[in-house]
Amino acid sequence: MANVQESDFGKTKDGKAVKLFTLTNEHGLVAKVMTFGATLVEMRVPDKNGKMGDVVCGFDKLVDYEPKSDPYFGAVVGRVGNRIAKGEFTLDGTTYHLAVNNGPNTLHGGNVGFDKHVWDAKIVQSHDGPSVAFHRVSPDMEEGFPGNLDVTVTYTLTNDNAVRLHYKATTDKDTILNLTNHSYWNLSAFETPTILDEVLMLNADYYTPVDATLIPTGEILPVKGTVMDFTKPTPIGERIEQVPGGPPTGYDHNYVLNGPDGKMKLCARAYDPKSGRQMEVRTTQPGVQFYSGNFLDGTNTGKNGVKYVNHGAFCLETQHYPDSIHQPKFPSSELKPGQTFDETTTYKFSTR
Ligand code: GLA
Repeated sequence: MANVQESDFGKTKDGKAVKLFTLTNEHGLVAKVMTFGATLVEMRVPDKNGKMGDVVCGFDKLVDYEPKSDPYFGAVVGRVGNRIAKGEFTLDGTTYHLAVNNGPNTLHGGNVGFDKHVWDAKIVQSHDGPSVAFHRVSPDMEEGFPGNLDVTVTYTLTNDNAVRLHYKATTDKDTILNLTNHSYWNLSAFETPTILDEVLMLNADYYTPVDATLIPTGEILPVKGTVMDFTKPTPIGERIEQVPGGPPTGYDHNYVLNGPDGKMKLCARAYDPKSGRQMEVRTTQPGVQFYSGNFLDGTNTGKNGVKYVNHGAFCLETQHYPDSIHQPKFPSSELKPGQTFDETTTYKFSTR
């Protein structure tokens, strides 16, 4: 029967206790989420023969999630996920200076992003399945961002076999935010070491090209006729060597989702022909960063001793477009007092 179990996942180096919640739905799917980074630690789903497998990257021990070298496995990233050019932005006439932690830019909220904080958590009642709400207040000027930001991210493992993330946030000063989840998926449950043979469809006719430091140029270009086109299901590895940019080679791009912003719509469908596992992503967000695990290089050894090799997993980070604050044509990432940031993403599992 569907339920939530709470256990200890150890203590951070500075002594904070971290809780792990094990969500089991009516069909026996299991999602494990912890208070450090509001992180999805484990996701067990059946293959076409009913064999369960864990389809996300992660570590056995908390200590491995703490260093900066952790590639954001499973975490909620913020306050502003993805990049801000040159580590600064101007809002209402004030210029804010941020940590420059990725080449010349800010990545994933700065030096200590939301993924490195211990969140509060409580089990909540939902008709849809077992559910846990994570909450934190990011104080005014944390990592250089204005406004006390009150954030709740609720994970629900629905009884129709989806993990649903519902993000809500309010602020007491004008600010910017871009919350996403940084899970790395390998639908073979790492029985195949890379995701190059997994077949991806992205519901996006356009993408935002980037410069050499992965900052959007501001153009919104059609994918048609290019290696960026995933409008038809295509193996991820089929054209990966031809993707411009790098090293490292691969996809690390924001796609402009077809359909209305703020409403649930199809984002992506990924399928592993060997195991028969399929994952369908739906979201209210305007974009998705498709990242093909280009920086994974085998140095991270994860759960069950699995080495995460280059292209060992992919991310579909539903989001606002990178560097939106500097791009007037992109959907705004600003949040003002009185407004509520309210976005939902679901990752639904099936087999075929
Ligand atoms: C995002 C970025 C990538 C990389 C990963 C983390 O997907 O777009 O460039 O930084 O996070 O390694």
